[in-house]
Amino acid sequence: MKSDYRMSFENAPSVKTHLPGPKSEELIKRQDSLETESRTYTKSFKLAVKRARGSTIEDVDGNLFIDWFAGICVMNLGHANPIVRKAMIDQIDGIVHINELPTEARINFIETLVSTLPGSLKNRAKVMFTVTGADACEAAIALARHVTKKKTIVAFGGAYHGVAGDIVGATANYHYRDYAGLSLQNFHHLPYPYTYRFPLKVRKEDVSKVVVDQLEYLLRDPYSGAGAVGGVLVEPIQGEGGYIVPPDDFLPMLREVTDKYSVPLIVDEIQSGVGRTGKIWASEYSGITPDIVCISKSIGGGIPTSMIAYREEYDKGLPGGFHFGTYRGNPVALAAGNAVLNFLKNSDLLEHVRSEGSRIKSRFEEFSREFAGIGEVRGRGFMIGTEIVKNRETKEPDPALALKVKEEMFRRGVLMHTCGHYGNVMRYMSPLTIEKDLVDRGLEIFRDAFSSASGK
Ligand SMILES: Cc1ncc(COP(=O)(O)O)c(C=O)c1O
Repeated sequence: MKSDYRMSFENAPSVKTHLPGPKSEELIKRQDSLETESRTYTKSFKLAVKRARGSTIEDVDGNLFIDWFAGICVMNLGHANPIVRKAMIDQIDGIVHINELPTEARINFIETLVSTLPGSLKNRAKVMFTVTGADACEAAIALARHVTKKKTIVAFGGAYHGVAGDIVGATANYHYRDYAGLSLQNFHHLPYPYTYRFPLKVRKEDVSKVVVDQLEYLLRDPYSGAGAVGGVLVEPIQGEGGYIVPPDDFLPMLREVTDKYSVPLIVDEIQSGVGRTGKIWASEYSGITPDIVCISKSIGGGIPTSMIAYREEYDKGLPGGFHFGTYRGNPVALAAGNAVLNFLKNSDLLEHVRSEGSRIKSRFEEFSREFAGIGEVRGRGFMIGTEIVKNRETKEPDPALALKVKEEMFRRGVLMHTCGHYGNVMRYMSPLTIEKDLVDRGLEIFRDAFSSASGK
């Protein structure tokens, strides 16, 4: 199976009206009068969507945009991918919803999924379906607490695990917890090994050890104040926190210390998984076996679904109804998911993501030599972060410049989103199937946009 067929609209980007165009403006007005003010994406990208193909989106005014956003890593195989689309349509003709009962879609999906899992989870894990990313993380921490009979979950600064009942406590940005009206209960955060902004003055090569030593102190010492630790929850590459790739020794060290104290290691692959980094799972780069993996976003090919995969022995005696719900394991999503995973297994796409990802990263690195406002470029595969600063020496974040670059790119027809502790990291997360000409046009637009936004 080859991955280099064309799916996108040929002439993108093509912006023919002022933005938003008149028809978009009309729909945006109607949306504003009907929907909550708390929406966020509509503030970033002011267009109303007609349809999307591959790595391009057409608005209702006929403007064409290059999509470097991919619904936040949901559309890894591109919009309207014919293979995924066919799997969905065939399934719709069969059955659209059934609660838990076996369908071919469900069982085929699980068999394919477990065949891809990292380390000794491969072909041996149990799977529990959930609906959203937050829901999967919620199930993961509930399972870890159930297995260990200990409540505290250790998470990391910069973490994003979703916004829902309990898991919002693991999400590090305190605004979300405050909005949810919940206090931080039974969670303890350690700094992530974010070498560019590590809070302690230590050598780069010592950062993982400093973090993991601190974790070991929490696991060993009943007087640490963290409580009894029942799980460690980590993103193998941080997503919303700023596309932060930890040093290579971090996950192996984390695995070693969690093994030593028999604490479940939960790896959240919701953003980094399903091929995004050039392997099906980002944690594969480290060679570790997680105890529980959280999976969502691109696994449903655009239809909401999520799940956890975990060590078989955690399943013994798990009571009926443990983390329950109506919509778990939607057949259409799972038929799509099976097509997505088989495509990743059988095509040359992962290899392409690794080589094309390093080419794209090198281009951003070239821009960093041209523009003083780029403090660091980092990433793996198609998860590339460009951190924008006021001053390279002080590393003072410049979210205003990042926002301007985003707006300038939008005016020129490219959707690129931000992330990071201060909203100052521009992130490259296009579909993995993006055609080379769209990458190159987008990169030139980034350069132009940066130049106008920074006045350089
Ligand atoms: C790593 C990670 N975990 C969990 C979530 C939450 O997923 P959802 O928005 O589907 O609840 C996200 C969402 O961006 C994420 O990136």
